[in-house]
Amino acid sequence: FDAIEIIRTKRDRQQLSPEQIDWVVDAYTRGVVADEQMAALNMAILLNGMERTEIARWTQAMIASGERLDFSGLRSPDGVTRPTADKHSTGGVGDKITLPLAPLVAVYGVAVPQLSGRGLGHTGGTLDKLEAIPGWQANLTNQQMMDQLSEIGAVICAAGSGLAPADKKLYALRDVTGTVEAIPLIASSIMSKKIAEGTGTLVLDVKCGSGAFMKNEQDARELARTMVDLGRDAGVNTTALLTDMSTPLGLTAGNAIEVEESVEVLAGGGPADVVELTVALAREMLAGAGVTDQDPAEALKDGRAMDVWRKMISAQSGDPDAALPQARESQVVTARSSGILSRLDAMSVGLAAWRLGAGRARKEDPVQAGAGVRMHAKPGDTVQQGQPLMTLLTDTPEAFDRALAALEGGYDISAEGSDEARAALERP
Ligand code: URA
Repeated sequence: FDAIEIIRTKRDRQQLSPEQIDWVVDAYTRGVVADEQMAALNMAILLNGMERTEIARWTQAMIASGERLDFSGLRSPDGVTRPTADKHSTGGVGDKITLPLAPLVAVYGVAVPQLSGRGLGHTGGTLDKLEAIPGWQANLTNQQMMDQLSEIGAVICAAGSGLAPADKKLYALRDVTGTVEAIPLIASSIMSKKIAEGTGTLVLDVKCGSGAFMKNEQDARELARTMVDLGRDAGVNTTALLTDMSTPLGLTAGNAIEVEESVEVLAGGGPADVVELTVALAREMLAGAGVTDQDPAEALKDGRAMDVWRKMISAQSGDPDAALPQARESQVVTARSSGILSRLDAMSVGLAAWRLGAGRARKEDPVQAGAGVRMHAKPGDTVQQGQPLMTLLTDTPEAFDRALAALEGGYDISAEGSDEARAALERP
C-alpha cells in the first residue's frame, strides 16, 4: 500500500477498503506513514466523511494497535459475578458526574472500570479533579485495577498507554491540525478506547451546546448514533443520552471545587442538575447491567454511595477526610443590574476556569488544584444588582483580567427568563 494513494482515495470522495484502513492505521502507529500524510488523510476524512463500515474498520484497527482488557470473569470477594458498566461523556464544563456516578453504580454490585483522562483546553479532566485530593494516585497496574474492582466495585484511574496506542498518536496530531471536529474520527477515537477497555455495558453522555464539541443538536445526534452503532457492532451493550452543555453543570468549574461539589452530591445534597444527571446515567448503566428494580437516588440519600466513594479514594492512597487545596486569591463578579439570569454560557465559564489555571494549554502543563469558577446563580435565578454572580479563584492573580475577558458577554440579565431552556435529557 501507498499512503499517497490512500490520501487521494479519500480526497476524491471514494471509500477506503478494509485493507487500506488496516494498513494505514498500523503503518502510522509504527512511524512508517509520516505525520503530514496522516494529517492530510484526517483532513480529507473531516471534509468528505466516512461510511459506517469504514468507521467500524478504522475503530477495529485502532483497537488492534494495543491490548484489550477482559473483565468477563470479575467476581466480588464473596464469589458473586460482577457485571461491568462504564460511562463516557464527550466533555463539558463543570462535568464532574463521573465522581459521584462510579461509586453510586458500584453500590448495586455492578463494577465500574472508569478509565479517564486529563483535561485539555476549556473542558476539565476527571483525573485532574481527583488529583486535588491529597495523596490520590491516578496510575494503577491492570492487576491493581482488577483487585479494586473486585473488592470495592469502582475504580477511576488513568487509561494506561497500552489501550489503543494508535489513538494517542492520532489524537495528538488532530489536536494541532484542526481535525478534532470530525464525527468519524471522534467516534472511532472514543469507542476504540472503550471497546478495548472491555466493559460489558457502556453509557454515552453526548453533550450538545456551546461548551461541547458538538455545538448543534443534529451533529450531537449523529455522533451519538455513530458511537452506539460502533459499540453494539463490537458486542458492547451501548446506549446514549443527549444532554445539554449550553450552561455549566452544577455551580463549580475547576478541580478541588468540583470534588467538593461531588462530595455534596454523595452526601445527599448538591445542585439539582448534577443530581439529576448522575441518577439518570446510573439508571442507564444499571439497566444495561441487568439491575432494573432499584432506585439509585436512594443510595445518594442513605450514605451507601458515600461509603463506596471513601473506600475508592482510600484504595488509591487518597485521604477522603483531608481538607482540599484552596486558591490563594479570589475575585467576585457582581450583577450589573437586577433581573433574571437568562443565560450563563458554558464556553465562557470554561475558558475563564482554564485561564485561571484549572486547565492546561499543553499536555505537559500542570494544573492548579484550587483554581476555577464558583457560580452563585444558575440560569432562571432572580438576581439583584450588586449581588455576587461568580467567584473567580486562582493562585496567579494576573489571570483575573484574562478570565474576566472570557466572561465578557458570557451571561445576560434580563427582565424576563429565557425561553430557550431545552430538555436536559434525551435519547439520540
Ligand atoms: N475525546 C476523545 O477521546 N477523542 C476525540 O476525538 C474527542 C474527544
